[in-house]
Amino acid sequence: MNYKNSKRIFEEAQISIPGGVNSPVRAFKSVEKEFPIFIKSANKAKLIDEDDNTYIDYIQSWGPMILGHNDDRVVKAVRESLIDGCSFGLPTKKEVELAELIISMVPSIEKVRLTTSGTEATMAAIRLARAYTTRNKILKFEGCYHGHSDSLLVSAGSGLLTEGYQDSNGLTDGVLRDTLTLPFGNLEKVKLLLEKEEIACIILEPIPANMGLIETKKEYLEGLRELCTKSGTVLIFDEVISGFRVANGGAQELYGVTPDITTLGKIIGGGYPVGAFGGKKEIMDMIAPVGDVYHAGTLSGNPISVTAGLATLNILKDDKSIYTQLEEKVDFMVEKIYELSTKYKIPVCINKMGSLFTIFFTDKKIIDSLEDVIATDTHAYSIYFNTMLDNGVVVPPSKFEAHFIGITHTQEILEETLIAIEKAFKAMK
Ligand SMILES: Cc1ncc(COP(=O)(O)O)c(C=O)c1O
Repeated sequence: MNYKNSKRIFEEAQISIPGGVNSPVRAFKSVEKEFPIFIKSANKAKLIDEDDNTYIDYIQSWGPMILGHNDDRVVKAVRESLIDGCSFGLPTKKEVELAELIISMVPSIEKVRLTTSGTEATMAAIRLARAYTTRNKILKFEGCYHGHSDSLLVSAGSGLLTEGYQDSNGLTDGVLRDTLTLPFGNLEKVKLLLEKEEIACIILEPIPANMGLIETKKEYLEGLRELCTKSGTVLIFDEVISGFRVANGGAQELYGVTPDITTLGKIIGGGYPVGAFGGKKEIMDMIAPVGDVYHAGTLSGNPISVTAGLATLNILKDDKSIYTQLEEKVDFMVEKIYELSTKYKIPVCINKMGSLFTIFFTDKKIIDSLEDVIATDTHAYSIYFNTMLDNGVVVPPSKFEAHFIGITHTQEILEETLIAIEKAFKAMK
């Protein structure tokens, strides 16, 4: 594989952009590669880089592209919308349609506000929970990532874990005091904390996908629900990844557990900038201009994002078989990867949920311990990543992320991927 142009662009990029990238994981630092690939275009399940190399894509823009890149129906809707204008700073009918569609699909949402990113959605959800409960402290779980607002950059997953630290620099003492953290999966610790502290909200990824993928147990979510109800704590499910990816109604539909507030992003914008937070009417009606909890945005509910989101969600709503098909694809991959791991004696643990999976290079079962995830073999993951890349497959450039599968990952594409995985396992011997 020739990466000449990507290498040159990265050298240039580092002069004008910190680290040469606009989001840290993109730099490929943790997978022992000196430069990332720069993408020129994408179609269905494939990416093309600036050197004209073609790759099968398991990043899928970190989740939004469940229908694959450039789905004809989404592209058509966006093209038509562009002609009507791209941003008005005034409300549009389509925003109401998208809100109604989200409410009809996500069990716990009675009212919803659109934002421009998942980060804004979780930030606003926390402010709302604080106002609703008149409490300051919040609880999040180690290794869960909820975007880059100050309160949530404590014990955070994703790029922070990849970079080798968990609290961002630049947070005030007040923020560090008000964001409490606990290990994911331990209900007893949450119970003890809620007995001694007044907490505004518990925020979690109901299916953590930013410390590698964790297969959450139903009893854990049920237990959190019960503890929150008892203590008057707002339960926030951050479904920015799991929303519309594991089921139309996200993890809350899959597990049958109802949060008070849900945050969304990624898929609801069909690949365009978006986020949303929604929940019970009585909580949501505290937001301005009804109430005095401020939330706003020049591009909130942007017509192009809303159009792409509407097209995407309508497709997902109309074709219920999509989630079954995606799960079958993941099941096929997981079974075959385990076969290869046995054949080449490479110990792996693969966690999967819906259309997501993570390969952990370890001989331990990864249940929910962040320490166990951190202890997995980083060098083995780098060999895996680089062999895959050299053989035309892009997998997440960090062992702390999940592989994303979409409907355009055909059987042929999956089999092509397995050939590359076999080469990666051989390279590890
Ligand atoms: C679970 C979760 N919440 C929130 C966010 C932040 O979303 P955004 O990157 O759109 O700000 C992310 C981003 O990956 C995420 O995975």
